[in-house]
Amino acid sequence: MLTAHAKGESMNLTDKISKLKKEKKAIILAHNYQRPEIQDIADYIGDSIELSRKATQETQAEIIVFAAVDFMAESAAILNPTKKVLLPTLGARCPMAQMLTVDEIKRQKTHYPNAPVVLYVNTLASAKAYCDVCCTSANAVEVINSLDADTILFGPDRNLAEYVAEETGKTLIPIPEWGFCPTHLLFQPEDVTVLKLQYPDAVVMVHPECSAEMRRVADFIGSTSKMCSYARESKAKTFIVGTEEGILHRLRKENPEKQFITAYKEAVCPNMKLTTLDRLYMALKEEKHVVRVPEVIAKKARAALDRMLAINH
Ligand code: 13P
Ligand code: SF4
Repeated sequence: MLTAHAKGESMNLTDKISKLKKEKKAIILAHNYQRPEIQDIADYIGDSIELSRKATQETQAEIIVFAAVDFMAESAAILNPTKKVLLPTLGARCPMAQMLTVDEIKRQKTHYPNAPVVLYVNTLASAKAYCDVCCTSANAVEVINSLDADTILFGPDRNLAEYVAEETGKTLIPIPEWGFCPTHLLFQPEDVTVLKLQYPDAVVMVHPECSAEMRRVADFIGSTSKMCSYARESKAKTFIVGTEEGILHRLRKENPEKQFITAYKEAVCPNMKLTTLDRLYMALKEEKHVVRVPEVIAKKARAALDRMLAINH
């Protein structure tokens, strides 16, 4: 619990961040998994594709502070070469993004020379530079359907690959064979079964990074922001949520009359939680840590991101 002193401090910090933000013409973009206090101070909250789009639309901003993990900030830097993109915490890495190396892409290309390479944005810029087009969980089905190919190399998330293959009827070769999100791996259908005994009318929403077993018990499968719009538009009153717990803050804030229950309390992305108000403040004050992607890599990665952004979702 916060002490009165600590509460005062954090309020103070919020004011200081707002003041600095105005002075420096900065904008704060936050992912749906960020801590509640970060979401509350952000100019914009969204999923991966929305944040990428927002980063390119913010023509007035001189600094973009990315409250998220590194691959998201990297994408913003690639798409905005003239802007300063800041990642408040250097260690905020997505472990799934580390799972696909350029060597593995090259190796698989030798086995499937005619297959296009589609990479989830949860990849490093160096890997994106070796793909034909990127996708997010919100547009993966559309991106795959837009390609004139039936066999596609897809990485790094094996669960997303399986889900998209089911939806499109195409053959997706997962690269690497075993890529996964450690946080979404924690969800189990058994927990949903138990929760359903307590909340029989609850609607189950699941992220496509979850296992096939979790997808089978889902009423809705989608990206984090798609879950937000689904919950907003649904007539249901209770929702069991199969994605990182940070999203519950936004869901509850936007739907105060509805009830949201996490499918597993411990499903926390530790890297997303590294951004604190203190770190956000220091990032703005000292203009750190500037995300830099060498232009030789950025140029190729930008083409893959631009191609994705050109496909409607
Ligand atoms: P979204 O694009 O659905 O927000 O997902 C990003 C992510 O990292 C999920 O773990
Ligand atoms: Fe990466 Fe999983 Fe965290 Fe998303 S929730 S940023 S995929 S580790």
